[in-house]
This record gives sequence, structure tokens and C-alpha cells, in this order.
Amino acid sequence: MRTETIVQSAYLIAGILFVLSLAGLSKHEKAKEGNRFGVTGMAIALVATIWLSLSRAADPTVTLGLIVVAMLIGAVIGLWRARVVEMTQMPELVAMLHSFVGIAAVLVGYTSHLEAEAAGEYTAVHSVEIFLGVFIGAVTFTGSIVAFLKLSARMKSAPLMLPARHWLNLVAVLVSFALMVWYIQSHSIVPLLVMTAISLAFGWHLVASIGGGDMPVVVSMLNSYSGWAAAAAGFMLSNDLLIVTGALVGASGAILSYIMCRAMNRSFISVIAGGFGQEVVVSGDTDYGEHREITADGAADLLRSARSVVITPGYGMAVAQAQYPVADLTRRLRERGVTVRFGIHPVAGRLPGHMNVLLAEAKVPYDIVLEMDEINDDLADTDVVLVIGANDTVNPAAMDDPTSPIAGMPVLRVWEAHDVIVFKRSMAVGYAGVQNPLFFRENTQMLFGDAKDRVEDIVQALAADVVTAR
Ligand code: TAP
Repeated sequence: MRTETIVQSAYLIAGILFVLSLAGLSKHEKAKEGNRFGVTGMAIALVATIWLSLSRAADPTVTLGLIVVAMLIGAVIGLWRARVVEMTQMPELVAMLHSFVGIAAVLVGYTSHLEAEAAGEYTAVHSVEIFLGVFIGAVTFTGSIVAFLKLSARMKSAPLMLPARHWLNLVAVLVSFALMVWYIQSHSIVPLLVMTAISLAFGWHLVASIGGGDMPVVVSMLNSYSGWAAAAAGFMLSNDLLIVTGALVGASGAILSYIMCRAMNRSFISVIAGGFGQEVVVSGDTDYGEHREITADGAADLLRSARSVVITPGYGMAVAQAQYPVADLTRRLRERGVTVRFGIHPVAGRLPGHMNVLLAEAKVPYDIVLEMDEINDDLADTDVVLVIGANDTVNPAAMDDPTSPIAGMPVLRVWEAHDVIVFKRSMAVGYAGVQNPLFFRENTQMLFGDAKDRVEDIVQALAADVVTAR
């Protein structure tokens, strides 16, 4: 059989495995299986691609040497980063990886241009592929860098509000379109270079103008862009698998962005246009009155008399790595006959599914981990809600205050429960930078300190009951 045929068959199998991988990853129970499909598909794809390039190479030894060196460098950096990265730094890492896909598409675009120039072979279709590949790649590159800087707090998360910013975006797109027409007709590198400069600035501006609590949508949107950038590179390289894989990532990222938008009550179109949700005026310092505090022993007392408890975790649980004592507390309460469930907000933490991953890691049973929409109506009948390191996702201002930057975002209505205990270290604001009136409500008590330490204190207090009873 010809090498090309075998490679195309391998690509087809890899493509099917990627689809199965995505299907598996969408369900907790099948996530590991999905991962295995993905790894196997990627291994097949890699071997087939290397084989194909060796079969086409003028000097296979040199080509193999270059591939091995590049893979070794990549593997060493990848292994090192994956080992040292904290779970809380995952979003930044993902944003940085998206930027690599973007710059790779730009480089592939320029290489394709130079190859076409050297061969003197130009087609309109290939020119469009090159132009769009570079455009999407450049936008993804700078957009992802800004997302990385914002998520790692190296850049302020507040939105950049340039005057007439929507017009600037529109002009950038229209000028780029005109440059594409020029490029197709002239095959000159000049329009390509000008467009690259414009799209780098456009990508930067697109993400810089999105602020605070809206960043989750940006992360999934850049995920989608990186997929389209890879698909564009696939067209330029005439590599079917890269087109399929890029389209899978692009489409699944777009679906995720849509789900995120719905979760945050934002318009999908305005996200794609960039700089959405900034028309609101940040409200001034409102005096919400005094907050009340509780000790770990007091919290243990409340839990002793509770019949139903809901735990709503947030970013602080990830920072404190409190998921293990939280799982321990859950087990102990359930042994006492208390109904314990988790309420997960779609954008809790800093990554889609962040809380689900942490709870699964600590072996909390899946069937008691519910989505926000599944738990919200039950909160009014709940005795105690434990808000563990969550803030924006339980902020009533999102519903009550139209001037709030998070106005309109659906939240977990924890305040409807009989008692609410908020675990955090201070009265500081959450990611979106807005004060939370929940902390000042009559039925809310603050339990200050590191979430892991405080939950462990409660576990100890409850464990002491068992010892005393013996
Ligand atoms: P946040 O609003 O980020 O608040 C987390 C709270 O945890 C803070 O108020 C902090 O208060 C507390 N905390 C930090 N370390 C702690 C520790 N060691 N022990 C106890 N508490 C600790 O949390 P959230 O409710 O999960 O909301 C997520 C926010 O991030 C949303 O605004 C969302 O839009 C945004 N975001 C989400 C994503 C995704 S995809 N999920 C991506 C980017 C941004 P103290 O400092 O007082 O302790």
C-alpha cells in the first residue's frame, strides 16, 4: 500500500478517536476514557505525520534529526511546566498555550507565502488560506498573551476603554478585508505584513477591552480561535487531520463560549465583537452595615443541627486546596444522616469545570455535585449553606443592582437558605472587584481564615463528638 494511503487511513482513525475523546470528556464518568482516546489518537497522528514527512524529505536523516530535536525541546519544557504548575495557574498556562497555536499559524502562513513565491505558483484559494491563517493566528497570539497577563495578575483585569473602541475594531476588520483583496491580486508580502501588524493590535485590543468577571468567556473564546488558527494552518499545509482537529477545537470552543455566555447572561455576538458588558457604571461605595462572624466551633454547632447542607465552592477552595477536608466533612455529615449537596456555578474558579475537577480529585461522589440550575430552587429549603472561597458567584448584587459590573449574571441564591457561612480570609472583593452584600445579610456569618484550616477545624470538632460518644 502507498504511504499516502496508510497515512490518510491513520488520520481518519485519529480523527475518530478525537471525536470519541471529546464525547468522553463531556461526562465525569467517561472523562478518563475520553483522555485515553485523545492520547491514542494523538500518538497515531504524530507517528503518521512524521512518517509522511520522512517519505517526502530529500534527506530523511536530517529531517528526522530536526524533528527529534524539536520534539525533545518541546517535551522537556512541556513536562517541566506540567509538573510544576499549580492547579490555580492552569488558566494562565492554557492561555499561554493558545498563544503558541496562534504564532505557529502566523509562521506557517509566512512559510507558505515564501514557498508559493519561490515556486511562482499562486492560486486565489491558497492566497485566501494564507491571509486568513495569518489573521486568525495573529489575533489569537496577542489576545492570548493579554489573557495570560490578566489571569496571572501581571496586568490589571479592568477593561481598557478606548474612545470609539467598537469603531476601531470595525475599521481593523474592514481594512484587513481590503488588504486581502490587494494580497490576492498582487501576491506582494506588503499587504500581508500590514495586516499582521493590524491583527496583532486588534487581538490585543479585543481582549484588553474585556474586564473582570467576563474573562471566562474570553478563555473559551480564545480556545475556539486557537482551533480555527490550527484549521487554517491545516489548509495551508494541505493536512486533513490538522483541519479536522482544528475544526473540532474551534467548534467545541465556540459551543463552550456560547454556554459560558448563557451562564453569564451575556450576548454571544457582543463577546465575539469584544469589549462587551462595559456599558455599566461601577456603583460607588455603598454602606451595607456590619457583618457578623462565627467560629469553627459555632459552625460545627450549626451543622450538628442541620438536616440539609449545600456547599458552594469557589476560587478560594482551589487556592487553599481545601477540597480534601471538604470531602472529609461531606463524608462525616452524610454519616450523620445529613443531606449534603454541592452547588457549582458555571464560572466558579478560573477554568471551566475547575470545581468539578477539584471535587473529583478529592473523591466527592458525582451524584451529589449539582449544577447551579439544578440546585438554585432547593436553596430556600436548605438549612445551612457553606460558601467556601466563593464570592462573585454568590453575589446578590448581580440580581439586585443594575449598576453592578456583574449585573445580569445568574448566581447561586445562597442567601435564601436558613443560615449561610462564608469561608474567606478577609472582607476583600472577588475577581470582578465588586463588594458582596451577601456578607452583610442577617442570616450570613463570616468564618475568617484559610478555607482548608477552617474546614479542618470543623472536621475536628465533629470528630470529637464521635470520640465523646464512645
Ligand atoms: P472569586 O469571586 O474569585 O472569589 C474568591 C474568593 O476566595 C475571594 O473573595 C477570596 O477572599 C477567597 N479566597 C482566596 N484564597 C482563599 C483561601 N486560601 N481561603 C479562603 N478563601 C480564600 O470566586 P468565585 O466565586 O469562584 O468566582 C469566580 C470569578 O472568576 C468570577 O468573577 C468569574 O467570572 C471569574 N473567572 C472565572 C473563570 C472560569 S472559566 N471559571 C475564568 C476567569 C475568571 P479573601 O481574599 O478575603 O480570602
